[in-house]
Amino acid sequence: MSKNQQTILVTGGAGYIGSHTVQALRHAGYEVIIVDNLVYGHQDLVENVLQSKLIIGDIGDRVFLDNLFATHSIAAVIHFAAYAYVGESVVNPAKYYGNNFVGTFTLLEAMRAASVNKIVFSSTCATYGEPKTIPIPEEHPQNPINPYGMSKLMVEKLLADFDAAYGLKSVCFRYFNAAGADPEGRLGEDHNPETHLIPLILLAALGQRESISIFGTDYPTADGTCIRDYIHVSDLALAHVQGLEYLLADNQSQVFNLGNDNGFSVREIIEAARNITGKKIEVVESDRRAGDPPVLVGSSAKAKKILGWQPQYADIQDIIAHAWQWHQQRHG
Ligand SMILES: NC(=O)c1ccc[n+]([C@@H]2O[C@H](COP(=O)([O-])OP(=O)(O)OC[C@H]3O[C@@H](n4cnc5c(N)ncnc54)[C@H](O)[C@@H]3O)[C@@H](O)[C@H]2O)c1
Repeated sequence: MSKNQQTILVTGGAGYIGSHTVQALRHAGYEVIIVDNLVYGHQDLVENVLQSKLIIGDIGDRVFLDNLFATHSIAAVIHFAAYAYVGESVVNPAKYYGNNFVGTFTLLEAMRAASVNKIVFSSTCATYGEPKTIPIPEEHPQNPINPYGMSKLMVEKLLADFDAAYGLKSVCFRYFNAAGADPEGRLGEDHNPETHLIPLILLAALGQRESISIFGTDYPTADGTCIRDYIHVSDLALAHVQGLEYLLADNQSQVFNLGNDNGFSVREIIEAARNITGKKIEVVESDRRAGDPPVLVGSSAKAKKILGWQPQYADIQDIIAHAWQWHQQRHG
């Protein structure tokens, strides 16, 4: 069957990484159906930019899913739908295990009943917990330190067991920090509430926040602030197309890190944003937050080797410039 006839179900496709992936899938010639309950997704972007079919529904609703799989011929699923606020997961773990784990279990059961046996899953570097080695390889022990990371690790285990028992093939992508926006400015990050560093800095640059907080300036890093691995969302989207094609070619299940193999400190990101925006950007220095490791940088060598993935926008200047273009248009 040619690509053009294959339909891919994208859960959470109205969200940040999902919407960029839908765009990449469409460019690659796939038909796409988005399922999103719009708790956080943006219907306007799906309608005006992606021009893809959106079915509003919940991945935890088995009757809804059975009906969906009965009425559409789905070649594979790319599964983004989840909650992703680490702090909230600590105070309300039931919400996270319910949506991220039980919801995914329901989706997998509906797939099994419909004989759809390929899935690309959004996992996270939060499954590793405190890093023992930098850069973090896929074989690094997984000891998540919050319910969000644990809910994602539990899905990884579920996928491994479903492969062994039922032949469900999966690609799990453990993302580091997704950042940036569609280079042409049509899509971007719009979380509410926003907790990610680069959009918070840019909202401060736009005057929509008074300042940006730095949590901890006494870490054992060159400038005392935490170092993180930022990966451009369009590069994540490209990896999803390649991961999907890897599964469609009947390969074995795999787990891949997706990051930049490179880290930037909070101060370096703020300085780069000042240069790109030309704005002063007020900074408030605060105490460390519990559970923030000094350095989180992944090794993505495996995805490069096996999938042939090659990030196009590894330069942090590009990542921030694309995000700035989007933020000015969306929030300016
Ligand atoms: N943003 C990051 O840096 C990052 C890093 C690691 C992993 N992830 C994972 O990547 C995925 C996407 O993240 P994002 O930043 O695009 O988040 P997002 O909130 O922008 O997108 C998630 C989408 O899923 C939808 N959704 C949530 N629960 C649903 C449900 N039960 N049924 C149907 N739709 C539902 C939301 O409405 C939203 O549109 C998540 O699984 C997240 O855990 C993100």
